[in-house]
Amino acid sequence: MAVSPSTVVAMASILSIFVFCFPTIVHSASFRQIFLPPTDFGPESLAFEPLGGAFYTGANDGHILRYQPPTGWTNFAITSPNWSATFCGGTTDPDKGPICGRPMGLAYNPTKRLLYIADAYYGLLVADSNGRLAKQIATGAEGQPLIACNGLDMDPNTGNIYFTDASAVYDLRNSSKAALANDSTGRLLKYDVGTNQVTVLLRNLSVAVGAAVSKDGRFVLVSEFLGNRIRRYWLTGQNAGTSDIFLSSINIVRPNNIKRTALGDFWIAAATVIQGTQALVPIRVRVDAFGRISETVSLEAQYGSTLISEVQESGLALYVSSRNAGFIGVFTP
Ligand SMILES: *[C@@H]1O[C@H](CO)[C@@H](O)[C@H](O)[C@H]1NC(C)=O
Ligand SMILES: *[C@@H]1O[C@H](CO)[C@@H](O)[C@H](O)[C@H]1NC(C)=O
Ligand SMILES: *[C@@H]1O[C@H](CO)[C@@H](O)[C@H](O)[C@H]1NC(C)=O
Ligand SMILES: *[C@@H]1O[C@H](CO)[C@@H](O)[C@H](O)[C@H]1NC(C)=O
Repeated sequence: MAVSPSTVVAMASILSIFVFCFPTIVHSASFRQIFLPPTDFGPESLAFEPLGGAFYTGANDGHILRYQPPTGWTNFAITSPNWSATFCGGTTDPDKGPICGRPMGLAYNPTKRLLYIADAYYGLLVADSNGRLAKQIATGAEGQPLIACNGLDMDPNTGNIYFTDASAVYDLRNSSKAALANDSTGRLLKYDVGTNQVTVLLRNLSVAVGAAVSKDGRFVLVSEFLGNRIRRYWLTGQNAGTSDIFLSSINIVRPNNIKRTALGDFWIAAATVIQGTQALVPIRVRVDAFGRISETVSLEAQYGSTLISEVQESGLALYVSSRNAGFIGVFTP
């Protein structure tokens, strides 16, 4: 759903009054939209290059775009060897996913200039700076195929990749069936860049959609979209190999991607239930490495009831992406 500029301006002035009354809420001063090219839709996730504000996003029709301010968008890569402009270009038909691919989680390795991609149909891939067809690096783990890869993060210290397979049964086309069946076959996985091995860290997750490593590499978070919680898996220390609940449905519902900030906090794209109704509105939640929430901000003014997929900080701005929108939202202070 697009929001008209006049609505945005009106909402922005309401928000600034709000900010004035509640000075702990920041980032609400200005909101703008970076629209995808007209035939593209559904930026699920974002990956930033370290300098110059360039970023990548994956679209519904299976291709990955690169945005370079101020010039704009270029087509960067595809995940499927069978992608063609005539069959796939601009498609919103989910049944074309198995042929066209559907890039979801992204992370950029700035030293190697590599873009890692979790694709809902093509598993784990990596694209070099030339883009075009990304190289598939994993299609299964421990004897089980990857069915619906979704979230992805890179450990900034080791370069290892953590990613999710939302379900071992239901692919992206069948998400509503997964919800009806209360599926809990999702997995958190690790791709070791040294050995090229994929290992399963956690199983039985209730639709695992987001992953983020802590700044110090001690744990990795995984969101369970259907389970309405975020789990913490310990990578080091006396609890290594075990998990606990980091954030529960008391605070959030439908948690999606999780992104680490430069300071080591996390932004979570989630939703909240409007009191007295069943209706959901999108929220962004900032939480520190101990799971303490410092900000919960409704995005209803900008997004209505359209749920968001990711919130990511870059420089002073917050970028919001959504699989259900045709633009990237940018909040600047
Ligand atoms: C991709 O194309 C090749 C040959 O053109 C075909 O064998 C293969 O089945 C196709 N894969 C999919 C997923 O459509
Ligand atoms: C997923 O959806 C496709 C197409 O609608 C269907 O062919 C397939 O059987 C479904 N799989 C499951 C597990 O529901
Ligand atoms: C977790 O999933 C495995 C299959 O992957 C299953 O055998 C096991 O019973 C499940 N454990 C729980 C606690 O549900
Ligand atoms: C869905 O599965 C989760 C476990 O992943 C369980 O805690 C919950 O009670 C189940 N919900 C329903 C409605 O069965």
